[in-house]
Amino acid sequence: SPPAIIAPSILSADFAALGAACSDLMKYNAHWIHIDVMDGHFVPNITFGAPVVTKIRSYVERPSQKGGKGTFDCHMMIAEPMKWVKDFKDAGCDLYCFHYEAAISSVAAREPADTKTTRKTSPKEVIRYIHECGLQAGIAIKPETPVDVLWEILESEDESERPDMVLVMTVHPGFGGQKFMASELPKVKALREKYPDLNIEVDGGLSEGTIDQAADAGANVIVAGSAVFGAKDPAEVISKLREAVEK
Ligand code: DX5
Ligand code: ZN
Repeated sequence: SPPAIIAPSILSADFAALGAACSDLMKYNAHWIHIDVMDGHFVPNITFGAPVVTKIRSYVERPSQKGGKGTFDCHMMIAEPMKWVKDFKDAGCDLYCFHYEAAISSVAAREPADTKTTRKTSPKEVIRYIHECGLQAGIAIKPETPVDVLWEILESEDESERPDMVLVMTVHPGFGGQKFMASELPKVKALREKYPDLNIEVDGGLSEGTIDQAADAGANVIVAGSAVFGAKDPAEVISKLREAVEK
């Protein structure tokens, strides 16, 4: 598997002190910052948008290379993934991870107004657009979505339509602090068997108690919200999660 990447989710941070939370995470040796963007449509909750990302960007040094330390991993739980790519690029997002389910049911934001109501986007089109805007692209699947929908996308002949990361949700998106769904791990395993070098992210319910199963299945990018922010010693949790993936 590719290197272990621990990406704490600031969804569980104190929202009144997000900048400090981000700079603390870097001191605690986190690799990426996972930013959960929710629009109240795709999920029944609202968090933050591009202006907040702009503000917290100055608290974390920009990554010196693709996927490097300080990567802003934006998990876009939003109904219209095409619509916000440019704003998030300008805000300092590095990796824009949209939901497959949103892509197949949203309109094509780049079409002329009169066709917008009829033509749907495709996940490959969203990925190509994210790359055109200069960002890395991630594609996320909810627990109800089978992993098989991803093969065709990962096999795309056009390299710009292939994702840099796949996110397998291990809870129903929308809230932090939910119970880990081990039922999702066969998806991770199937992806890892086919793609030894792919960044595979797991998100939801990851902790010292669940990390071994996720790591065994082949996940290398680990999101953790409540496990990190609820800990007395967040640095220790981050290092334990990393060790579990590396061993
Ligand atoms: C859920 C979010 C997760 C969440 C994880 O919709 O995508 O990133 O913050 O939180 P924990 O680690 O507490 O399950
Ligand atoms: Zn997330």
